[in-house]
Amino acid sequence: MEKRDELYAGKAKSVFTTDNPELVIIEYRNDTSAFDGAIIEQLNRKGLVNNYFNAFIMQQLAKAGIPVHQVELLSETESLVKRLDMVPVECVVRNRAAGSICKRLGVKEGLELTPPTFEFFLKNDALHDPMINEHHIESFGWADKDVIAEMKALTFKINDILKPLFAKAGLILVDYKLEFGVQNGQVYLGDEFSPDGCRLWDAETLEKMDKDRFRQGLGGVIEAYEEVARRIGCELP
Ligand code: C5P
Repeated sequence: MEKRDELYAGKAKSVFTTDNPELVIIEYRNDTSAFDGAIIEQLNRKGLVNNYFNAFIMQQLAKAGIPVHQVELLSETESLVKRLDMVPVECVVRNRAAGSICKRLGVKEGLELTPPTFEFFLKNDALHDPMINEHHIESFGWADKDVIAEMKALTFKINDILKPLFAKAGLILVDYKLEFGVQNGQVYLGDEFSPDGCRLWDAETLEKMDKDRFRQGLGGVIEAYEEVARRIGCELP
């Protein structure tokens, strides 16, 4: 596999073309951003940890029948993935209230949500990722009805797979954000699943083991990510 030109650089990852038009290489960098990119810091080993963490989770999801873009790990910080037409929308499922929903609806952090709730956000840093609904996605042409329904169904299905996976490791999957894309008419889970894009709390102590440690200046960010990886059986070099 030949790595060619940089196609796109996001806040934490860069995407490169390859000699195969249907495959791209994602490079996980150590850059760690918060508040829509207003704060960016380098955290040692973050690229490696998230690359391995994501590969492990995507493998579990693929085994359970979820179409994922991940093809294989290429190096400590690079993965080969399917090239997708990304839908510029973030899909969030919440099992408990935390983060933006607490501010928006005035609910207490930790409130259990039964059934889990679902939200769409537009991926747009300049607009601070506003919350949108299915009608917006369709009317503005970000995705069609079938793709929207598929993204929503897959996001909930992933909850049924990941909630027990983390529970077995003594962790509560509080919420998570997913992004999807399309290749040859098929919707795939794209982007990444790592502690950067979800909330995980220790089931006993409710200690935060995810990116909220960075957002809230709690320290021990990568140590927490590595502890989560260890508990779920994801081996890191
Ligand atoms: O900020 P909010 O509470 O809406 O975030 C919900 C979930 O989505 C959290 O797990 C957060 O880490 C994730 N998220 C993300 N990228 C964003 C916004 C939220 O990964 N741009």
